[in-house]
Amino acid sequence: MPHNQVTVKAPATTANLGPGYDVFGLALAEPSDKVTLTRIPSGVRIEVAGISAAAIPTAPEKNTAGVVAAHILKEFSLKTGVHVKIMKGILPGIGLGSSAASAAAVAYGLNHMFSLNLNSTQVVRLAAKGEVASAGFEHADNVAAAICGDFVIIKSYNPLEIVNLKAPVDMEVCVAYHNVKTLRNKTEKARSVVPKQVPIEKLVHNVGKAAALAAGFATGNVDLIGEAMQDAVVEPARAFLIPGYERVKENALKAGACGVTISGAGPAMLSIVNKKKADAAKVASAMKAGFECAGVEATAFATKPGKGACIMEME
Ligand code: HSE
Repeated sequence: MPHNQVTVKAPATTANLGPGYDVFGLALAEPSDKVTLTRIPSGVRIEVAGISAAAIPTAPEKNTAGVVAAHILKEFSLKTGVHVKIMKGILPGIGLGSSAASAAAVAYGLNHMFSLNLNSTQVVRLAAKGEVASAGFEHADNVAAAICGDFVIIKSYNPLEIVNLKAPVDMEVCVAYHNVKTLRNKTEKARSVVPKQVPIEKLVHNVGKAAALAAGFATGNVDLIGEAMQDAVVEPARAFLIPGYERVKENALKAGACGVTISGAGPAMLSIVNKKKADAAKVASAMKAGFECAGVEATAFATKPGKGACIMEME
């Protein structure tokens, strides 16, 4: 028997981690979205509450969670509808996988609600459909991390294949972002500045760093992960979109971070901290001060890598 109501929690995520554009993703312990799915006779209805709820579209075809819900009802010929109530805990438009969390929660929740028996890769494939609504492309890095937890590598898009590795226990993560309103199509814009072709030297640079970063997760080496978080292709093209970019980086490294990069499509900046060597709270406030030197108010916090989506309630 299908369930009538499911509540799912799905975490914020950071994508790319420097050299892994559309390939690397990391789930964060905080913040998260909570999504309650309730069966209704037909169609998809979206309701949004919580942080910046007014900025999020409720037309199902414009909302990442709505796109995923409609797609699943159709693909599995489910003769029912679903009401999606999103309680936003993740600020949208800053590069912390806010839209991905809601989309991931819907795919994860409907899999349980209707006992679809999908494995996590199949759930990620469905959740990634929602990213078209916010990014114009089904990039799976954020949704994969939101579903699988910890660190993910999108090994292949066609067919979708994912490698999932645990994050080191000594790893902490700092996030800082300026409090300036971002455009609704911010991710699409940030993707439009990415170069279409890459010189071989930059390819060599990024392959080396990406391989080292993955080795860092495989061996639990936080310093290696942070040092390898350097991108010669996408980040230099996007840096101009972030006021204070250079200063934030400089401040984070001076305060003891082992690496700094743009979180996903930005404008949030992300740094990795080895808790045996530095204080994440100090790194976070140094990053905030970096933005403030550039004349913009900012918010910063420290967290850790986190788990993937989970069911909170089901009836
Ligand atoms: N990989 C994507 C990008 C993440 O960088 O555009 C967007 O959140």
